[in-house]
Amino acid sequence: MAIAIILYSLHGHITALAEAEKEGVELNGVQCDIFQVPETLDADTVKALGGKPSTYPIANREVLEKYDAFLLGVPTRFGSMPAQWSSFWDATSALWVKGSLHGKLAGVFICSSTGGGNESTIANVVTTLVHHGMIYVPLGYYNVMKKLSRMDQIRGGGPWGSGTIAGPENEREPTVIEKKIAREQGRKFGKVYWKTIH
Ligand SMILES: *[C@@H]1O[C@H](CO)[C@@H](O)[C@H](O)[C@H]1NC(C)=O
Repeated sequence: MAIAIILYSLHGHITALAEAEKEGVELNGVQCDIFQVPETLDADTVKALGGKPSTYPIANREVLEKYDAFLLGVPTRFGSMPAQWSSFWDATSALWVKGSLHGKLAGVFICSSTGGGNESTIANVVTTLVHHGMIYVPLGYYNVMKKLSRMDQIRGGGPWGSGTIAGPENEREPTVIEKKIAREQGRKFGKVYWKTIH
């Protein structure tokens, strides 16, 4: 009876949002554990990209089978999910055949360089969720209307899920408001999950 956050984070932006999502989930008294998908780039390439790999335990098929609901942290790569994420999903066809993930809940949060691809990335992840028969839970607007409609500062995310904008050199850090939106997504997702099990 728990929610897993599964993420890929090269520069720590998704990690910062994940910690806020976890805080939000836990406000419902629901257990929440964070995992990462395996890296597919070699160590030299990660270094050349200035990567700061995260230290969470590695997600595998057992994690997908054990947990009831998932918040997925997916940085944008040219408008879609990165190879690390797609290769993780490629390894789940045995679960797909058995329907192991059928009916489990999933929400998505993202990070992009410029804002571009924020929605298409999540829409592409939803395609995978659909094939597994998983139930996509959007962030929506209702709980975060004021935060999402502020025009006085740049912010990532939207009704599809929370998000941050890293900047083309990954120089920008997630802002207070982006982390608050992430926390709210976690809180709302945890609440939806709590309702489905009671
Ligand atoms: C997010 O994506 C939508 C749809 O492509 C786009 O209209 C919006 O400007 C993007 N957000 C940001 C902050 O760039």
